[in-house]
Amino acid sequence: MDWGMRNRLSQLIQRDGRALFLPIDHGYFQGPTHKLEKPGETVKPLLPYADAIMLTRGVLRNCIDPTNTKPIILRVSGGTSMVGEDLSNEGITTSVKEAIRLNASAVSMSIFIGSRHEHQTLINLARLVDECEEYGIPVMAVTAVGRELEKREARYLALCCRIAAELGARVVKTYYCREGFEKVVEGCPVPVVIAGGPKVESEMEVFEFVHAAIEKGAIGVNLGRNVWQSDYPVAMIRSIRAIIHENYTAKEAHDLFVQIKEGKA
Ligand code: 5RP
Repeated sequence: MDWGMRNRLSQLIQRDGRALFLPIDHGYFQGPTHKLEKPGETVKPLLPYADAIMLTRGVLRNCIDPTNTKPIILRVSGGTSMVGEDLSNEGITTSVKEAIRLNASAVSMSIFIGSRHEHQTLINLARLVDECEEYGIPVMAVTAVGRELEKREARYLALCCRIAAELGARVVKTYYCREGFEKVVEGCPVPVVIAGGPKVESEMEVFEFVHAAIEKGAIGVNLGRNVWQSDYPVAMIRSIRAIIHENYTAKEAHDLFVQIKEGKA
């Protein structure tokens, strides 16, 4: 692996081998998502606790202070919307030259396996990897499910992660699943991070699935809504960080959450 690639990956994946990525890219197909109406304000108090932020060039340029930020994972796929016909019909929306100009540490894009546009999104990934490898830029593949949240089960996720890695992704983002998540990670020769998906009922549920994912081999998270849609986003990210980088159990993380929420930590 060349120096530039290793250097960029080390900006994302910390010395302990773990990573906490904070995605705020949801507007690229959802518009002004709840609690992300002003992404710059949402992310400001959370930045100190994130290892990297994932976002589009529009939000990066307009809402993030270039003199005070964290490593950037630039989303470079899109071209669809919540009200359009098919979320899987994505193309590449941002050039590698632009990613370099914006000093991205990585780029990311979605693949939609099993969808009408599977082939197109996989070829997009392969071509993006070809181009990015020339410049030492890691590609993080996002195994997207669109509206079909029920697809989040081990056989499907394992298939997606492996294909993403085979096509050259350096990191793969997927979802946690209760049954067989270890098989998803085992079948994928590159590091795996998990997204959180739509906000769940309780904080404990988030701590439990993050902890379980790490136990079963994920290196960390790329987790958005369950952090910044919380009433206590700083307490959420700090507690998740403790699981990822300090090996807290879910219960310990919850105790920390309560302490931070009550202003005691
Ligand atoms: C949107 C994305 C998000 O970055 C990813 O889903 C993580 O966010 P969340 O934890 O809110 O699901 O790629 O397509």
